[in-house]
Amino acid sequence: MRYSGQVAPGGSGIGRATARLLCQRGYRVYGGVRREEEAEALRAEGITPLLLDVTREEDLARAREALQEGLYGLLANAGVAVAGPLELVPVAAFREALEVNVLGAFATVKAFLPSLRQSRGRVVLMGSVSGLVALPLMGPYAASKFALEALADALRVELSPFGVRVSLIEPGSVATPIWERSLKRAEAYLEPPPPGTEGVYGRYLEVARRLAERNAQRGLPPERVAEAVLKALESPNPKARYLVAHPARIRETLLLRLLPAPWRDRLIARFLS
Ligand SMILES: NC(=O)c1ccc[n+]([C@@H]2O[C@H](COP(=O)([O-])OP(=O)(O)OC[C@H]3O[C@@H](n4cnc5c(N)ncnc54)[C@H](OP(=O)(O)O)[C@@H]3O)[C@@H](O)[C@H]2O)c1
Repeated sequence: MRYSGQVAPGGSGIGRATARLLCQRGYRVYGGVRREEEAEALRAEGITPLLLDVTREEDLARAREALQEGLYGLLANAGVAVAGPLELVPVAAFREALEVNVLGAFATVKAFLPSLRQSRGRVVLMGSVSGLVALPLMGPYAASKFALEALADALRVELSPFGVRVSLIEPGSVATPIWERSLKRAEAYLEPPPPGTEGVYGRYLEVARRLAERNAQRGLPPERVAEAVLKALESPNPKARYLVAHPARIRETLLLRLLPAPWRDRLIARFLS
């Protein structure tokens, strides 16, 4: 075994791709999953499962105790894509996005920090380009990823005296189950449009469906994101941020961040037509 580092990713998509890559590179990998059948699938790939829900501190404490050795790297990857026109998103659904994507990441890091401090290890947070530019219909998800940008900035400086390095991965669209899951979730939670708004919101929902399908088909392979995580773990001088997207998406994101709000809004509004 080349390294004795560990990582705690989720059970599918980017988490699974990262766990596989790290296994191939000789890491001992722990993977956070929520269901026993997924735990079994991880074992079959040589990944040690940790049954946990990141919104439950007691699960994280149990997972920490289950590790019988030091921890070198942590990937806080668990995430849900809560999307839809904001007026139709219930407060509880928005809260879930923050609970999992922000507080879940925070609680995960907090649970494993004593070990990471000892190893002068690495923390990798899974952000998104949605943490750089908030597109319409992605409000709750973008809010959670913007919050992760802040978490990463504060942690990076706070942990630097301990030799713990912190990186944020900012993927664009990646072909994972998150998109289909997002649509299914939206069908379950979106409130009916108020009378008189059906035309506008009906169109928005059509656009959201189209975008989700396109992202699922044309997104980057999750392995590309896994490579960025590997760099964040192995580079002697890891970057604060790794933006992983098609070059056109990177250009578009950087441009949208620079433009004055009225121009930016006009450009973005074209997404909705
Ligand atoms: N796909 C993209 O285009 C994209 C782009 C930028 C950033 N990201 C980020 O990448 C990360 C991984 O997403 P993905 O695209 O790989 O989608 P995914 O396959 O749906 O992975 C999400 C993972 O999070 C886990 N999870 C959700 N809620 C959890 C909870 N309360 N406790 C523990 N685990 C939980 C899921 O487990 P279950 O299977 O048990 O639900 C799943 O393993 C997310 O943070 C996402 O925001 C994705």
